[in-house]
Amino acid sequence: MEPLPLEKILEGRRSQPHQLIEALQDIQEHYGYISKEAMKTVSQELGVPLIEVYRVASFYKAFKLKPCGRTHLVMCMGTACHVRGARLLLEQASRQLGIEPGQVTPDGIFSIEFVNCLGTCALAPIIRQDGSYHHHMTPGKLRKLIDSLRNHKTQEHAYAQAK
Ligand code: FES
Repeated sequence: MEPLPLEKILEGRRSQPHQLIEALQDIQEHYGYISKEAMKTVSQELGVPLIEVYRVASFYKAFKLKPCGRTHLVMCMGTACHVRGARLLLEQASRQLGIEPGQVTPDGIFSIEFVNCLGTCALAPIIRQDGSYHHHMTPGKLRKLIDSLRNHKTQEHAYAQAK
């Protein structure tokens, strides 16, 4: 999806502080994260103090303050997932990708983060990959998933370059 210019997102919201969360949601959706520059622009355009924009953006887990990889893996470390081996999954992802939670691989393909519950405890341990849920995961299944996603993203990239 081509990012919408920030001005377009803020159109019709100027001087309307109550539009803060909706504006941040649209920025998150279109850019994948909320940059410092975007926060400053939102603050000026909506008339909300910058500290308040930052407080809201950093409070909600749905808002990212740093760019993610093109494939974002959310590892659940909640109790149900933890007792079923979530720690091993996180170690597998970190080792295989060479990154820690909160980081992006140098090729920009992967990023990982962990959360305390994805709300599907009966299917633990679970990983969310972009919009898809992978349940009853094992380190072996995760290794295959990452390999297949990497191949797919590499082919996608090569195809885009060739066009
Ligand atoms: S603890 Fe992992 S989904 Fe709830």
